[in-house]
Amino acid sequence: MGNKVCETLGIEYPVISGAMAWTSMAPLVGAVSAAGGLGTLGSGFMPKEIILGQMDAVRKMTDKPFAANLFLDPSPMLEVGVSAILEGKPAVAYIDSLNLLQYDFTKEHYDKFHEAGIKVVAKINYLEDAIVAAKAGADVIITKGFEGGGHVTKVSARVLLAEVVEANLGIPIVASGGIATPRQAAGLTVQGADGIEMGTAFMATQECPIHPNCKQAIVDAIDRDIVACGQSTGEPSWQITNPLAQEMLKIEADLPWDEAKGKIQEMSMGSLRAAAMEGDREKGAVLAGQVVGLIHDIPPVADRIVKFCNEWEELLKKDYSLF
Ligand SMILES: Cc1cc2nc3c(=O)[nH]c(=O)nc-3n(C[C@H](O)[C@H](O)[C@H](O)COP(=O)(O)O)c2cc1C
Repeated sequence: MGNKVCETLGIEYPVISGAMAWTSMAPLVGAVSAAGGLGTLGSGFMPKEIILGQMDAVRKMTDKPFAANLFLDPSPMLEVGVSAILEGKPAVAYIDSLNLLQYDFTKEHYDKFHEAGIKVVAKINYLEDAIVAAKAGADVIITKGFEGGGHVTKVSARVLLAEVVEANLGIPIVASGGIATPRQAAGLTVQGADGIEMGTAFMATQECPIHPNCKQAIVDAIDRDIVACGQSTGEPSWQITNPLAQEMLKIEADLPWDEAKGKIQEMSMGSLRAAAMEGDREKGAVLAGQVVGLIHDIPPVADRIVKFCNEWEELLKKDYSLF
C-alpha cells in the first residue's frame, strides 16, 4: 500500500523537515531530501537573491524534491517569497501564515504555484484554516500544534490532528508539533496522519548548519526549560530558557504591554543569529519546541528519516489490540 504523502510529493519517506528561519538552510534541506524526506528551506524572511542561492546550493546536493517557505500574510516579504519561488521553482511551496487564511487571497496564491507546476503544502494551526486551504486546492496539509517549535499557536497537536482528520478533507495530512520518536509517529498513524513533520529534532542533527552550542543546548534541555517569549508583540515564540529569555519574561511581566513590546523587539533583533550562528547560549535566543526533552543525541539526518521510518513501520506491525 502506498503512502499518500510520498505519492503526492514524490518522496520516499513521509517525513518533512519544517521550515526554520536561518536554520533550515541548504546543508540541512539537501541532506533531508537526499535521504528521501522533504527538506524545507527556512526562506520566509530571506531576501530573494539568498533564497535563489540556497535553492542552487540544495540542487548541488540532490536532484530530489525540496520545498521553500513563505508566509501567506499581506506584506512585502510575501511578494519577495512568491517571486523567488516562481523563479527558483522548488518542487513544493511550503506555506505558513500568522493570521487566519482568507479564501480568495489563499486561492489566488495557490493557483500561481500550481500554474507553475509547484505543489502546495499548507501548514495550518486551526481547523478553520485547514478547511480554507483544502478548498483553495492545497496538495498536503500540515497540522502544527501548540507545542511545536517556532511561533506559539493555540491548539494542541493532538486535538488539531483529530479535528482535521474528522473533517475528511480528502488530502494527505502531516502531523506536526512535539514529535521526535517513531513510537509517537506510529500513534499518529493510528490517529489518521499520513506523515509527520519535525523541526526541533532536525536542528539536533549533524548536517544542520547551526552552531554546535545550539545543538547541545537542545540535547541538554528538559521539557520545562521551554518558555514562550514575545507575548507582547503578538507573535510569541518558544525558546530554551537562558538569561536573555528570563530578562524578556521579566520585562513582559513588569511593564505595560505597549512598553514591553518595543523593548522585546529590540532585544530580539539579532538574538536568533547570536545563538544559531555564533553559539551564544546565554544572550542568544535558542528557538526550540517543547519536544527537547525527547532529544538526546545529534545523529546524521538519515537516522531521523530512514532509521526512524523503519522503526515506525516495525511498530505498526505489532499487535496493539486491546482485548
Ligand atoms: C528555530 C525554529 C525556527 C522556525 N522558523 C519557522 C519559519 O520560519 N517558518 C515556518 O513556517 N515555521 C517555522 N518553524 C516551525 C517549524 O517549521 C515546524 O513547524 C516546527 O518546528 C514543528 O514542531 P517541532 O519543533 O516540535 O518538531 C520554526 C521552528 C523552529 C524550531
